[in-house]
Amino acid sequence: MYYIGIDLGTSAVKLLLVDENGGIRNEVTREYPLEFPKSGWSQQAPEDWKKAVLEGIPALLSGFDASQVAGIGCGGQMHGLVVLDDRDQVIRPAILWNDGRTAVEVDYLNNEVGKERLSALTANIAFAGFTAPKLLWMRRNEPENFAKIAKIMLPKDYINYVLTGVHCCDYSDASGMLLLDVEHKLWSTEMLDICGVKPEQMPKLFESYEMVGTVRPELARSLGLSDHVQVVAGAGDNAAAAVGTGVVGEGGCNISLGTSGTLFISSKRFGVDPNNALHAFAHADGGWHLMGCMLSAASCNKWLCDDILKTTDYAAEQKDITAERLGRNHVYFLPYLMGERSPINDTNARGTFIGMTMDTTRSDLVQAVLEGVAFAIRDSFEVARSLGLDIPSSKLCGGGSRSPLWRTIFANVLGIPLELPKTEQGPGYGGAMLAMVGCGLFESVQAAADALVEVASVVEPDLELTARYEARYRQYRTIYPALKPVFARFL
Ligand code: XUL
Repeated sequence: MYYIGIDLGTSAVKLLLVDENGGIRNEVTREYPLEFPKSGWSQQAPEDWKKAVLEGIPALLSGFDASQVAGIGCGGQMHGLVVLDDRDQVIRPAILWNDGRTAVEVDYLNNEVGKERLSALTANIAFAGFTAPKLLWMRRNEPENFAKIAKIMLPKDYINYVLTGVHCCDYSDASGMLLLDVEHKLWSTEMLDICGVKPEQMPKLFESYEMVGTVRPELARSLGLSDHVQVVAGAGDNAAAAVGTGVVGEGGCNISLGTSGTLFISSKRFGVDPNNALHAFAHADGGWHLMGCMLSAASCNKWLCDDILKTTDYAAEQKDITAERLGRNHVYFLPYLMGERSPINDTNARGTFIGMTMDTTRSDLVQAVLEGVAFAIRDSFEVARSLGLDIPSSKLCGGGSRSPLWRTIFANVLGIPLELPKTEQGPGYGGAMLAMVGCGLFESVQAAADALVEVASVVEPDLELTARYEARYRQYRTIYPALKPVFARFL
């Protein structure tokens, strides 16, 4: 039998065809546009995701026996607000996880409702990308659209709806809405009230590995699928990636280096960061996790190369950055191209190069970007350490992990070994694994991870280089506090 894993990302959807031994038999990517209608705003048309998935599935199955597909599982970009009217039509473009338009609403939630109250209700405080502040924004700025809302959902839930006709959401993704009582895994009626939303407008909740329905009969026929393909609830992309890299159960760590950068620490027990700098969310294995999320990670390198240096040959840009140059760059980069979430929670923060001189080279800037992203993940790593969490090593996945140089920088900035799974396709692979569990191939997510996830290689930190990066990280840490008031005056 085959299982389809869907990674509904920000720049593209990636589909994986996985066999029951965990072998990836085929993969297909379909890109879609991302709109920035104003500085710091970010939105996307759910219809584009639908088109990409429905065109991607036949391409994925071409040359394979489609009737052998048993299940589908999706890991999707988190927090995006998708709103449907009473005919299940999309009301407006989805407002995405890296959208910063809700500064006023975040301020209202954190300061008037109050962080303590929010944390007691949801285990989290408000961040601009979370879904609840977007609902408040819509209520204030687009009252006519707000009045039309019949169903609220997240990006991958829209795909599950397209496939099955069921309005559903899983606990890991629902955690990032700031509407879920994360500890007890139910919608917080008080939070729904605060946002002017009724319980019937919310989707039904499931564990990530639970089946929500089967592919609608006409759709299954048009895709060449059998009439009993099971669709599981799936997960937010970070939880799905953690499943895909085997970070389930107690105390595992995964770093994802994609458009966003995340540090994800799994746990069997519910726990909250007392300062709410790290998110406290449900995990796709039935447990929980703490997570720090930076908004622009591999996207900083993509921005520098594609948009500024006008090249897509990232390896060529990195080839002059030899081992002896590591930890010795005088240029620093703050990776706040979309403002920043963890741990500084500042929509005003901006990307910044600092420390350039007449002899600064193109590759110094590239190196500063790679290092700045690693330093920003270290910020969340330090928060986790300050909570007493022991992180002796981590998995690493996402597009950025394909760069050997970036992997070395990360291992030495963090000072821990980084394990690279055989597949770096975290969310798609995790989605397929969740489908396998839903279809009964494994009795739990842990069992699927034990059977399927393998480490391909380990990047060990080097003592001397770690010490050099330690000194540079201490310098880096002083830059944002000094610039924070400047960023606030820019707007
Ligand atoms: C996590 C987050 C991002 C998106 C990226 O909180 O906002 O990692 O899920 O797709």
